[in-house]
Formats: sequence, C-alpha cells, structure tokens
Amino acid sequence: MDRRQQEAVIADLVRSFGSSLRNRSLYPPTHPLVRVPVEKCFSDLLRFFADQPELVLVVSNDTLVFEGVPIFKLTSSLEYFMERLERIGAPAVIFEKGTTPGEIETFIRFLHETRERSVSVERIQERLRGMGVAHIRVRPPDDNEKDDLKFARKIYDDAINVVISVMREVRTGRIPSGTESDRVVRDMGGMLRKNRDAILALTLIKNFDEYTYNHSVNVAVLSLALADALSLPEAEKIEVGVAGLLHDVGKTQLALALIRKPGRLTDEEFEEIKKHPEEGYVLLGKMSHIRPGSAYMVLEHHMRFDRKGYPKREPDYQFHANSGLISVSDCYDALTTMRSYQKARSPLEALGLMKGLGGKSLPADLVAALTKTMGPYPIGTTVRLNTMEVGVVTATGPAGPTRVMILADRNGAPLPQPETADLTEIIGTSGIVSRSVVGTANPLLYPAVAAGSFPSAPGP
Ligand SMILES: [Fe+2]
Ligand SMILES: [Fe+2]
Repeated sequence: MDRRQQEAVIADLVRSFGSSLRNRSLYPPTHPLVRVPVEKCFSDLLRFFADQPELVLVVSNDTLVFEGVPIFKLTSSLEYFMERLERIGAPAVIFEKGTTPGEIETFIRFLHETRERSVSVERIQERLRGMGVAHIRVRPPDDNEKDDLKFARKIYDDAINVVISVMREVRTGRIPSGTESDRVVRDMGGMLRKNRDAILALTLIKNFDEYTYNHSVNVAVLSLALADALSLPEAEKIEVGVAGLLHDVGKTQLALALIRKPGRLTDEEFEEIKKHPEEGYVLLGKMSHIRPGSAYMVLEHHMRFDRKGYPKREPDYQFHANSGLISVSDCYDALTTMRSYQKARSPLEALGLMKGLGGKSLPADLVAALTKTMGPYPIGTTVRLNTMEVGVVTATGPAGPTRVMILADRNGAPLPQPETADLTEIIGTSGIVSRSVVGTANPLLYPAVAAGSFPSAPGP
C-alpha cells in the first residue's frame, strides 16, 4: 500500500472505531450499529497488516498523525475517537498484527467506560492487559526530532517522485492526474505545521543534475511556508503548494537540450523558454483535481510585479491574488542554487538581492514576508558561534537559530562528521545558553555548504 492507500484505510478504520464508540452510548453492545463497525475495523486492520507489523496512530494537537504526518479529511466520529483517547491520556495507540475483533471490542468498551482523565500510560496498559487485550497498546507522546527529519525526508522524496512522474507523463503526451500532486502538497502542509524546519531544511538540497525536480519541490515547500506565514485559508494553501510544485511543468514541452543547456541562452532560445508558463497553464487546465487558481499562478509566475515579464498581458491585467508567492519562492530557490552560470548565494544574500527587486519584478510585501519567515539567520545560513565554531543553521525560532550543524571547530578545522548543536541548551543552572550565533561566516570556506549540499541530507 502506498501512503495514499494507507491514509484511506486509516481514515475508514478510525471512522468505524468512532461510530462504534459513539453508538455504544445509545445502543446495547450486541446492536448491529455497535458490532458491525467493529468487524469493519478488523477487516481494515487486516488490510493494513498485509504489509506492516503494526499500526501506530498518534493524536497530536487535535490531529491524527500517522508516521509523523497528519491525516486530514477527518469526520466527526473520528474526532470523537481522538477526543476519548486524549482525555484518557493515551496520545498514541498501537495495533499489532494479531489484533482480534474481540480485542477491538474490548478496547472500545474501555474507552467508552473509562470516565477518568489523564490516566498514566502504565495504568492504561495494565487495565487493558487485565481485560485480555494483548495486541493493542498505548504509548506516551514522543516528540522525536529524528522521526520528524525522517518523515520530512520521506515526504520530500515522495514529492520528487510525483514531479518526475507528472513530467514523464506529459513528455509522453499523456495528461497526468492531479490527485498525487494534491496529496503530496497536503502531506507537505501537514509536515510544515508539525515541524516547519524539518521540511524547510530539505529545500537546501540543490541537486545539480536533477535541478528541475528539486527546484519544483523546493518552490512548493517555500510557497507553502509563505502561505502559512500569511495565514491563508487551507484550500488556498493547497492551491499555492500545487502551483509551486507544478510551476515549471510547461518546460516539458520544450526540447530537453534547451532546458539542460549550460550557460547563457541565445535570444531565440530565451523566446522558447518564455513559453513554459503558458504551456504549464494549459496542462494544469487539463489535469484533474487541479483548481483553476493553481493554473493561473503557474501562468503568472514570470509576469513580474511590474508586468514587464512574460507572457505579455494588457497593463490592467489582474493577477491572481497568490501568484506573487510562487514568484518570490521561485526567485529565492533559484538564487540560492548554484547553476553553471551563477554561484549559489547564501540565504541572506538572496534575500538582500530580492529586497532590491521589491516593487520591480517582485511584490515588496511578499519579499518582506519571506524575509520575516526566514528570520535573521535563515535555515542554511553559515554562522559563527560565540565558541568560534562554524556551522549551518538547521532550525530557527522566533528569537533566532535554535539548532546549528557544526562543521568546523574553534580553530577552523573541519569536523570529520558534522555535529548537531542545540542552541537552546543552558549551562547548568546558570540560565545562560552554552552556544549562540554571533554572526555569519563565509560559506565558501566550508565546502560542504558552498557546494549547496546539505550535510544531513543523503544524496539523491
Ligand atoms: Fe518558471
Ligand atoms: Fe522555476
């Protein structure tokens, strides 16, 4: 089962679980409205266990999370189930292979009958065992940073595969479906909400050979982060993310040699390249599950704020309200990427340059919003610490960087293996943080970063 199928099965499963639980307060346990959903749960679990040994469902911030990524499309019965779990104090529930319908029924009875709040995990476990439930366990919440990074990477790779398959289909003359793009953007959105930096850090992956794929995913992540920062409604966020993911899909209509051409383009070649937003617009218009807003954003991503870009339109042409998010994210990712004709700029250099473009090619307010989102030392910035160590910012908070990957020791000697430093760590009871950022450092002196490869990210 792929992630999409897993999500569908889990949504079904939890829906049945919730309706059985809710109906218990209205009907006797033998009533079909209580019993049938239990059977349905069991058969859904069996489907899941065909290729997984256990199913771990976590309730975090009122959302149901599976493998680190929230599941949406939730219904009221699902909310009922989550609320019960949370109230009792069981933020994560694990169904192991071997779970029987009887155990599901007993677990539902347990959730239904328990009136206490915030019971300890040990106590819940003990009671479940006493009731003969051996294959359903509860687990305390774990805020596992490592897991977040792993899942963010999984979503990122998944998105790359979606872009590859969409582009491949277009090249072979087919019209791809937009369902996968929509799904993966929802996953990215969920991950951004859960741990923004885990996925934002991945936009530092600049794969030179597969530029278009990484660039597409990076623009999707950046534009989603911007949409988040601007508190756009959920549906608009997805529209923006999908537009970011597919903004350059029109390039598939151009000759490969042209797209991959190193160095500057001739005038004729540039005229060809200029066709990609319109080609993209037409393609998105034909794809299922793509909202018209995404297609407009794709059409407009090179029109420039001052309307001096392409394709050309009348001076009074009205932009889609969110097109600027794609243009700004596109520009940021392009500037921070090394190309055959340009060096990669550091995030701060890129933002500085973009500030100068505000009111001209880019909307100044959105450049300011991106700058604010990225903070004083954006993720990916090479910084010097008060300890004289040098590293790259991998997470930031409202007060500045919170995590740095140390690349060089206090004498400037590169570490054999980059080490992660937590900048919120306090020395003993002093209240003083052990490490803090004192300024930026020249990334060119630390080749791992200069080449645009992010130390924590394994290769393609
Ligand atoms: Fe483009
Ligand atoms: Fe682009």
